Amino acid sequence: MLLLMRVVRLLALCAVALGCPTIVSRSQWEARVPRNRDPLGTPVPYVIIHHTAGNHCTSQVSCSREVRGIQSYHMDKNGWSDIGYNFLIGEDDRVYEGRGWSTMGAHAKNWNNKSLGISFLGSFSKTAPDNTTLTVAKSLIQCAVSRGFLSESYTLKGHRDVTSTQCPGDALYEAISQWPEFEA
Ligand SMILES: *[C@@H]1O[C@H](CO)[C@@H](O)[C@H](O)[C@H]1NC(C)=O
Ligand SMILES: *[C@@H]1O[C@H](CO)[C@@H](O)[C@H](O)[C@H]1NC(C)=O
Ligand SMILES: [Zn+2]
Repeated sequence: MLLLMRVVRLLALCAVALGCPTIVSRSQWEARVPRNRDPLGTPVPYVIIHHTAGNHCTSQVSCSREVRGIQSYHMDKNGWSDIGYNFLIGEDDRVYEGRGWSTMGAHAKNWNNKSLGISFLGSFSKTAPDNTTLTVAKSLIQCAVSRGFLSESYTLKGHRDVTSTQCPGDALYEAISQWPEFEA
């Protein structure tokens, strides 16, 4: 019985490890403390994809610097309580924790309370992130489903599908529109 329980636990750990990419935590990228956190009712039914329309980055050092800059902009210029996105993805193929799984974001007006906002670091109007980077996003989304933060029958949208914006850039928008869960 004890052995069986150990095996079950090991399998569960493996499933989590397979389904979830490593996430650079807030303390790792040296986040500021949020002013406030509103809980997100999970599982949410939507994922909304963004780009930051800022600098590209290809290392943990440069992406962390970029994420800190975005957090400061959102807190100091926009007056938000924290960085707006739930997660960010760099072209270093790492995921950066924003507000995380269960705090409501500030990334898509009227949609924040029913979605996870994932933003690619950089500007993707002319070229999309490469397939490896796109796969990191897919794996993060699968992880959200497996951990119960995103509904199994979720819908994926680009920011421009819910408001008037160029975000997430023509090339990235074209790429995500091929994904099976996409709906304009
Ligand atoms: C989200 O907020 C809107 C506007 O306040 C509200 O009508 C809606 O019921 C909320 N949805 C959820 C899932 O909380
Ligand atoms: C990237 O993925 C797209 C869509 O699945 C595919 O058409 C393209 O050939 C891939 N590119 C590379 C370099 O693997
Ligand atoms: Zn956006």
